[in-house]
Formats: sequence, C-alpha cells, structure tokens
Amino acid sequence: MQEVRIGFIGCGGNANGHMQRLSDLEGVRIVGTCDVQQERAESAAERYGAQPYTNHNLMLERDDLDGIYLSLPVFAHGQPELDVIARGLPFLVEKPVAVNMEIARQVEEAVNAAGIITCVGYQLRYLGSTQLARQVLDEKTVNIVIGKYWSGSGRGDPNSWQRQMSRSGGQILEQATHTIDMMRYLVGEVEEVYAISANRVLKEIDCPDNNCVTMQFTNGTVGSLTTSWSYDSGDWSHANVLDILYENQLIHWGVGGLDVREDGEVVSKTAPGPSIDEVFVDAVRRGDGSKILSPYSDAVKSLAISLAAIQSSETGAPVSISSIG
Ligand SMILES: NC(=O)c1ccc[n+]([C@@H]2O[C@H](COP(=O)([O-])OP(=O)(O)OC[C@H]3O[C@@H](n4cnc5c(N)ncnc54)[C@H](O)[C@@H]3O)[C@@H](O)[C@H]2O)c1
Repeated sequence: MQEVRIGFIGCGGNANGHMQRLSDLEGVRIVGTCDVQQERAESAAERYGAQPYTNHNLMLERDDLDGIYLSLPVFAHGQPELDVIARGLPFLVEKPVAVNMEIARQVEEAVNAAGIITCVGYQLRYLGSTQLARQVLDEKTVNIVIGKYWSGSGRGDPNSWQRQMSRSGGQILEQATHTIDMMRYLVGEVEEVYAISANRVLKEIDCPDNNCVTMQFTNGTVGSLTTSWSYDSGDWSHANVLDILYENQLIHWGVGGLDVREDGEVVSKTAPGPSIDEVFVDAVRRGDGSKILSPYSDAVKSLAISLAAIQSSETGAPVSISSIG
C-alpha cells in the first residue's frame, strides 16, 4: 500500500484528534507538524515522530508531503490555504472554512484553478446514520426541519478565540455550522434566513449566547435552527440534532443514531461509516476525490448561511443567501 505522508498546520485540540485517528490507519505517516505555538508543534512531533515547524511555509518546502491538514482558528484561514494550493497539495481543512466570504471565495477560486482534492471537516456527513437518513428521505417531500445545537461551549475562558465574535463568528459560525451543513445535506439548499439573537447569560463574551434562525429552503421546506452556548457543558444530547417531518412521517437524526417513525412504530437504526480521515487519505492515495462528501466549494455554501443568519440578527431583516457574496 502506498504510504501517504501528511503535514499539519495547526496542532491544537482538534488536530490532535485527527492525528490520533491517522496514526491508527495503515500506510499513513505524519511527517510535519506546524503551529505558531512552538510547544504544540514540538509535542505533536514527538508523539508521531515528525518534524516540528512554527512557520508553515518552511514545512511546505519538504519534498515528501502528500497532503495537508489545516486545523486553525477561524480568523487564521486564507493565506495558509493559498500557500498549500500554490504547492499543489490536497488538503483537509476544518470547518468553518473562513470568517468571511471574501477569504472563502479567494481560496475557492485558487482551489478550482489548481484542481486539487479538498475535504472540509464536516465529518457528520460520513456517519452511517446520516447515510440511512438520506436513503429514507430520498424522493420524499420534507415538510419541516427543526435543528438544535444546545451546548455549554460558550462557557470557559472568555479570551479564547472561540468566544470572540471577530475571531470565530460566534456559535452560529464556529459550531452550529455542523447543524446547518446537515440541514443542507439532508433537506436541501437554503434560500433565505431570518434570525434573532440574544446574550442572556454569558455577559463576559461579545457573542450572542442564544440564536434562533428561520430558514426558507429552495425546495419549499421551512425550517428553524435554535442554538445555545449557555447550556450545561456536560450534556451533549441536545447538540446537533434534527427532527425532519416528511410527508406524514418523522425522523430524528443525531450524532448517536437515527430514529425513524414508520407507520406508528419508532425504529432505531445505526450503520457503520468511515471516518473522514480514512476517506481523505484514501482520496489522496488514489488521486480521486469522488468519495469526499464536502469539498471546499460545497462547504462555502454552509458558511454563507451562517453569515446570512448573523447579518439578519444584526439588521433585523431577512437575508437571502445569494446576497451574501
Ligand atoms: N470537525 C469538528 O467536529 C471540529 C471539532 C472541534 C474543532 N473544530 C475546528 O477545528 C479548528 C481548530 O479548533 P481547535 O479547537 O483545535 O482550536 P485550537 O485553538 O485548540 O487550535 C488551533 C491551533 O492553531 C494554531 N495556529 C493559529 N494560527 C496558526 C498559523 N498561522 N499557523 C500554524 N498554527 C496556527 C494555534 O496556535 C492553535 O494551536 C476550528 O476551525 C474548529 O472550528 C472542528
């Protein structure tokens, strides 16, 4: 099996999860770890037998790289991706792809011009329960979808980049982008949103801690997403859940599985699915990105919905997704 050699730009909490999963895969080697915090680059390098860097351009000079992971704070996207693209390397970048549309469109244009394989970290698309939900909904008319992301992630250090609006975009952009992406993946494209937001509890941060978004889908479905960042940090059972009413039936989708109501009976279903890391590495090895479910240009559409919701909550007016840029 051809070995796939990976470099990391960003070695924080999320990157470490990817590194761990990659190290469990056959035929994968992490050869470079880069972080502007030297100790993070070094500690990852030590764990995986890689070379540490504090400047990604130095790492990109290596001639043994097959693919790159970018796991950066949301505000740091843009130039690192452009440098990876200039080097012609496939990359997996974490969601959300940018803090604004200007950066996302610039990277998207460079990706398209270079024709490289890209994968964005919307890993919930690969779950068996997600694929089962798509089968159930195939050719069905969806009436309404209700999404929820209630977490305690707004609690904690108020100075971290995640809890600063200008650096992360707040919960709707940084975290509930997963739920928005699942609504798109299972129900269809969104045409317009209207949102209201409030800061009810977490007065120490400048992000709304509760958001309510009404969505008009292109196919006629109506939807809503509610998010909270001020819930109990220990309970994740209300994070990333969807209720989808189709025709006269209902499914409840969640990270843990799928409940399908079929003729009055609720049936719980799960199925195995590959990890996003397996899919990306396989795509790099084969030089074929067709099994990647969220390439860069698709992920930009999820970003636009978050940005539209934020704009709507700030202006008080509905915002069409096409006006976002
Ligand atoms: N897919 C998922 O389920 C999931 C889960 C958690 C986080 N994430 C995403 O992963 C990304 C990273 O989140 P995190 O929790 O690991 O954050 P983090 O702050 O722990 O890690 C980010 C790291 O990037 C480093 N960094 C910043 N600028 C850099 C640069 N120019 N070059 C190299 N390193 C740089 C920081 O020093 C930090 O170590 C975010 O986009 C987040 O939304 C995704």
